[in-house]
Amino acid sequence: MTHPTTDAAKKASDRVIIFDTTLRDGEQCPGASMTFEEKLEVAELLDTMGVDVIEAGFPIASVGDFESVSEIARRTKRAVIAGLARAIPGDIARAGEAVRHAQRGRIHTFVSTSPIHLAHQMRKSEEEVLEIITTTVAQARNLVEDVEWSAMDATRTPIEYLCRCVEAAIKAGATTINLPDTVGYATPDEYRTMFRTIRERVPNADKAIFSVHCHDDLGLAVANSLAGVEGGARQVECTINGLGERAGNAALEEIVMAIRTRRDILPYETGIDATMLTRASKLVSAVTSFPVQYNKAIVGRNAFAHESGIHQDGMLKNASTYEIMTPESVGVNKTSLVMGKHSGRHAFREKLKALGYDLGENALEDAFRRFKDLADRKKNVYDEDIEALVDEEILTAHDRVKLVSLSIIAGTRGPQRATMKLDVGGEIRTEEAEGNGPVDATFNAIKALVPHEAVLDLYQVHAVTEGTDAQAEVSVRLSAQGSSVTGRGADPDTLVASARAYLAALNKLLMRGERLHAHAAE
Ligand code: KIV
Ligand code: ZN
Repeated sequence: MTHPTTDAAKKASDRVIIFDTTLRDGEQCPGASMTFEEKLEVAELLDTMGVDVIEAGFPIASVGDFESVSEIARRTKRAVIAGLARAIPGDIARAGEAVRHAQRGRIHTFVSTSPIHLAHQMRKSEEEVLEIITTTVAQARNLVEDVEWSAMDATRTPIEYLCRCVEAAIKAGATTINLPDTVGYATPDEYRTMFRTIRERVPNADKAIFSVHCHDDLGLAVANSLAGVEGGARQVECTINGLGERAGNAALEEIVMAIRTRRDILPYETGIDATMLTRASKLVSAVTSFPVQYNKAIVGRNAFAHESGIHQDGMLKNASTYEIMTPESVGVNKTSLVMGKHSGRHAFREKLKALGYDLGENALEDAFRRFKDLADRKKNVYDEDIEALVDEEILTAHDRVKLVSLSIIAGTRGPQRATMKLDVGGEIRTEEAEGNGPVDATFNAIKALVPHEAVLDLYQVHAVTEGTDAQAEVSVRLSAQGSSVTGRGADPDTLVASARAYLAALNKLLMRGERLHAHAAE
């Protein structure tokens, strides 16, 4: 007979808390910045899919970050909302203020502990850092019940000193202890052992939940995270699509599916609805304009594609021959109903529902109009086409500058010319510009219509589906005054897609400028 209390205790001990930091560590990735509205949308999806803790931002970093963390804290129904803070009283106070309205708010404060960071970045002694940990964690704990403390560069910190830091943080009131592999240096064995040793040696270790936070510099972030869980950690910090600083963080979708698929050797559970993983991946890719690599585990376009004859033969006989999880289990809709110009509003609405979109009436009407327009130019409209179109519709809903029309003269006999009409805050402006090729002419027309200082850092094109009538999806990255933004546009005409992508990025820059301006004037 099983003992109910023992069963319940075992269940709790097997539960892994999923802490998503797409909106904080993910957004720190150059070019991946999101607008206020985009952050709210991502947070809502993360909450719905069952993420336990959403790290919504770094409130002291900027007014925009503070506002988005506060608004996410106000709106989120279920997840804990965390705000990041350095071990500085002003940071902690600001993070506390930002999460004040959350149903469940957390302050996540961190300080470096490794000799390299202490000597070169902090210029502080070990004893001074210990003192900082005690005072800052206590300050945070006076503001909220739920305090996470992180030892930055934990994996390059001598274990004896790390034990002292962890003990001090728990004593001062930390409820979660995060030991990050900040520089992506550890191996799975080392990381597992670090958690085991800390949990064995630190006398008050049982008073806190331990957390992993791994970067992917050596491609080991997911393996290290799972090893840390085997070592006793019960919170995993990760991001959608593995977005993050440098090579990124551990990918949420990979952690969740590894735990689900290999329950035999990873006997843990998460609260994530895995059927929403594909949708989350697409949304984050759309709002950051960071494409997902085709062969990315779980959410890549080829993750469930079988090309070789032997594999296809096996799949036809029994899918388990070459598939360790079903596409449906991660939200890939295999029965892709192809849409065309005869598809009506009802079918379109149903299709959007199946793809995981929930649009308001106006947005639905606009998307339907663009779908009809696309179906007139393209025989078969696939799911990917609709996703590209709707994602763009969502992202451009608040844009100040919109493309009205574009015509191009291109070919072997230059110079290439673009004639463009833009709607700039309700005013229609027209311009004709020349360029070194049609793309250059298009961008020159935008620069003439909306003068700006931004520099073009990246221009990238790929086809959404196959065939010569495929939509082109263009990504453009612009940078100005030390920050960069990315925009994406899709259209069967590559030049229209290019104009849309440039305008998407420019609108983000304009919005950011307006927000900063408004706050400077307050
Ligand atoms: O990688 C890291 O150490 C971090 C901390 C701020 C938790 O992101
Ligand atoms: Zn990090």
